Amino acid sequence: MTLAWATLVEGTETPAGDGITGALRCVIEIEDGEQVAAVLKRDTPDLVFAEALCGMLLTKWGLKVPAPYLVNEPDRISFASADVGYPNLKKALGLDSQNLSAKEADELTRLAFDVVMSFPTTSLAIALDEAIDNRDRNLGNILWDGSEEAWIDHAFALGNGVAMQDRNILCEIAAFNGLADQSSQAAIARWASLDRDAVADAAGEIGALHDCTTWQDLVLRRLDTLGMRILARFPQPHDLLGQTP
Ligand SMILES: Nc1ncnc2c1ncn2[C@@H]1O[C@H](COP(=O)(O)OP(=O)(O)OP(=O)(O)O)[C@@H](O)[C@H]1O
Ligand SMILES: [Mg+2]
Repeated sequence: MTLAWATLVEGTETPAGDGITGALRCVIEIEDGEQVAAVLKRDTPDLVFAEALCGMLLTKWGLKVPAPYLVNEPDRISFASADVGYPNLKKALGLDSQNLSAKEADELTRLAFDVVMSFPTTSLAIALDEAIDNRDRNLGNILWDGSEEAWIDHAFALGNGVAMQDRNILCEIAAFNGLADQSSQAAIARWASLDRDAVADAAGEIGALHDCTTWQDLVLRRLDTLGMRILARFPQPHDLLGQTP
C-alpha cells in the first residue's frame, strides 16, 4: 500500500466533526481520476504528515484505519481519509446529545466502554496507541456502524500531543471494565508480532515531503520496551496493596 495523492473537488465541503479543528466531509479525486467521499483536515504540516504517517503505519500493522490521502491544495498539503460512511461512537450512541442527564451520560459511557472492549482489534489498538504515543484516543476517534469499527485521528501522536496528558485511554477503559489482565496480555502478544520494518516503510512514503526521522526514532525506541510500557499503563500490584480495605 502506498500513500495516494488527491485533489479536492471544489464546493463539496461540509463540516464533519465537532468543529473544533474543522474536519470537512468532501469529495476528492485521486490521481487515477477516481472520485471518493473523504474527510479532509487542514492542519499544520506536523499534524498533517504525522496523521498520514500513522495512517500508513497502522494499516501496515493490521489496524482498521480508513485509507489515508495527501491532498494537494493551492496553498497547502492537507490530510484526508476515505469516508467509511458511519459515525463515531459518541454519535452512534447518542453521547453527543446536549440533553443528557448525568445518569444517562454515565450509562451511555459504560455502554460505549463495553462496545470498545468487544472489538477484535482493541488489543492491537492498545499496543499501537502505545507505540505511536497517541494521547488523543477518545470516543469521537473511534468509528462504529453497529458491528464494524475503524480507528481515526492520529494527528496528536508522535510527540504532537506533548501538551496533553500522557495516557493510554484504551488501557484505562480495559481496567475500568475489569479486563486489565486479559487486555494487557493480548496487547503484549500483538506487540510481539509487530514488524519493525513497517516503521521505515511508512516513513519512506513521507520522508521526501517532511522530515520523519524524529518520529521514526520515537516509534522504534518505544517498540523496544513496549511490553513494559503496556504493563505500566494498568494498575500495579503495589497500587492495590496500598489501598486500605
Ligand atoms: N474516515 C472517516 N470516515 C467517517 N467519518 C470520519 C472519518 N474521519 C473523520 N470522521 C468524522 O469526523 C470527525 C472529526 O474527525 P477527526 O476526529 O479526525 O478530526 P478532529 O480534529 O477531531 O475534528 P473536529 O475537531 O472537527 O471534531 C470524527 O469524529 C468522525 O465523526
Ligand atoms: Mg477527533
